[in-house]
Amino acid sequence: MTNKTSIHGSWASRWIFILAATGSAVGLGNIWKFPYITGENGGGAFVLVYLACILLVGIPIMMAEVFIGRRARKNPIHALTDIAEESGGSKAWGLIGFMGMLSGVLIFSFYSVVGGWVLHYIKVMLTGEMLGVSAEQAGATFDVLLGDPKTLLGWHTLFSIMTISVVAGGINKGIETATRIMMPSLFVLLLILLGYAMSTDGFAQGWDFMFHVDFGQLTWNATLVALGHSFFTLSLGMGTIMAYGSYMTKKASIGKTVLTIGALDTLVALVAGLAIFPIIFSNGLNPGAGPGLMFISLPVAFGQMPLGQLFGSLFFILVGVAAWTSAISLLEPTVAFLIEKFEMKRITASITLGVVVWGLGIACLGSFSFLSDVTLFGKNTFDFLDYITANIMLPLGGILIALFAGWVVKDKFAQDELQLSDSIYTLWNISMKFTAPIAVAVVLYFLINPLT
Ligand code: PFF
Ligand code: NA
Repeated sequence: MTNKTSIHGSWASRWIFILAATGSAVGLGNIWKFPYITGENGGGAFVLVYLACILLVGIPIMMAEVFIGRRARKNPIHALTDIAEESGGSKAWGLIGFMGMLSGVLIFSFYSVVGGWVLHYIKVMLTGEMLGVSAEQAGATFDVLLGDPKTLLGWHTLFSIMTISVVAGGINKGIETATRIMMPSLFVLLLILLGYAMSTDGFAQGWDFMFHVDFGQLTWNATLVALGHSFFTLSLGMGTIMAYGSYMTKKASIGKTVLTIGALDTLVALVAGLAIFPIIFSNGLNPGAGPGLMFISLPVAFGQMPLGQLFGSLFFILVGVAAWTSAISLLEPTVAFLIEKFEMKRITASITLGVVVWGLGIACLGSFSFLSDVTLFGKNTFDFLDYITANIMLPLGGILIALFAGWVVKDKFAQDELQLSDSIYTLWNISMKFTAPIAVAVVLYFLINPLT
């Protein structure tokens, strides 16, 4: 069963797979979430723990996802059931794929709302409406946007349509074409913004904030956040990378490929931090501003800087591109499943799923206005979905995938696909059997039973 190709097509080359998977990985998690959680958790020491999580837990799990997808060449549910059967395990492992698809749908519903905010900020930056605003005014502008469901609905709808139309185009005409255009643009934009940040007088302070390690600053909670974020940022635990792996050619080395993807995602997060914090510091703003860091603090900063309108616009375009390629990957596994399972046409599958996630998105955008009274476990819909996916479903998916790869899949199959030297294979295997599941289980326990 190892040399088949997927019915959906294959990536044109190893680099296209790398860029497509990097497109999935690099998103709001890198440019919006990573800088603000770094800010909230005191900088350097947090960054170091995050890097360790990526290397010790994230990369090995990503290798497992890729090889499971590539070996089975099917959507995540069927990939897992096939490999389980082939290894003499239970078909129930397919449930991980099911939970993963559900996570994708739930993440999309709030991701698209934030994607919509980003589109709105592209417009606001281009028109220069926020030039010269104070922090209070910028905060008020953001609040007005959150409290305005009609505007949010428009942007959320646009973002959903942009995403669905690429997925509907299929692997080669849709996702691959988008990848070829968007990923190089993303890297260029990021470099331009980094150059801009380096020209500000806050650069040294920004650098110091991110790389000066002071373990006195590190809290137990920060460690939990770092590990949780390593799943979200690498798009792990939900079958996305498995689905993308099922379109990967057999020739490419999984280890090297995955290391490249992990390195690129990390690099973008670090560079995003290095682009944002200097701008924050050179304007005397607070790095620990939380989720509003990007939507409130940055517009204030850009509004006071030379060429701020230009670079502010470029910045939000960058975030928009990154969010778009990630959103595409949130939907692809389920679309692949609908096509394979129900013999739907891709266009039908994409639109069907699109309508569902668009509807769920409305519940999220209403969290700040007409649905603000609706709470689950004390959280509005938006925060609740962010919480259960990033903090519970993805880590749980990650543990189960690791256990599956480590204990159920036959060693011979794993070795066949991974082609690692014996010592590296042993390390990987130990990570799957013990390190990754235990580390993540500990985190999961404390995320559910917070210390404070
Ligand atoms: N990795 C994306 C980010 O960092 O923004 C988020 C994400 C995309 C998570 C796709 C999961 C996924 F399947
Ligand atoms: Na990411």
